[in-house]
Amino acid sequence: MTRTLSLAIAALLGMSGTALSAGKIKAPSPEQLEKGKGLFTVNCVPCHGEKGDGSGPAAVALNPKPRNFAKEPFKQGTKPDEVFKSISTGVKDTPMVGFAHLSEEDRWALTHWVLTMVPQSGKAGGKKKGK
Ligand code: HEC
Repeated sequence: MTRTLSLAIAALLGMSGTALSAGKIKAPSPEQLEKGKGLFTVNCVPCHGEKGDGSGPAAVALNPKPRNFAKEPFKQGTKPDEVFKSISTGVKDTPMVGFAHLSEEDRWALTHWVLTMVPQSGKAGGKKKGK
């Protein structure tokens, strides 16, 4: 389990050189990812599902439905600052509300956790390619 987590972190750190430093965002620490995961479980899983595939129990009732983070393109982008913004202000006219009531620190933790579910092969996050 710890091993899987370190692998995920290693993968994330791999991309941090480009995307993260460009936005002057520090690479996530293991603690930050743990925190993001916990916050995601509490605040987001009912709609997004544990794996971010949009299979949460509440998703059936939603329109539009939450996308599969791993497979479908994001409307508002998958750069860390774009995901942070989506989490902070939501997506207009959808059930995806903003979570500005969470601290910035919490929203960054969530951002990094969401990004662990987005394939890092291309910036488009979900440009269908292979997987
Ligand atoms: C009430 C259900 C609901 C909850 C709770 C919810 N979301 Fe969403 N979320 C959605 C829906 C629906 C969409 C898709 C909106 C669309 O297609 O435009 C979405 C979209 C997104 C997107 C993609 C935005 C884009 O650019 O396309 C991100 C990132 C996201 N949510 C993160 C989160 C996080 C993190 C949380 C928890 C803090 C969360 N969501 C909680 C329903 C929810």
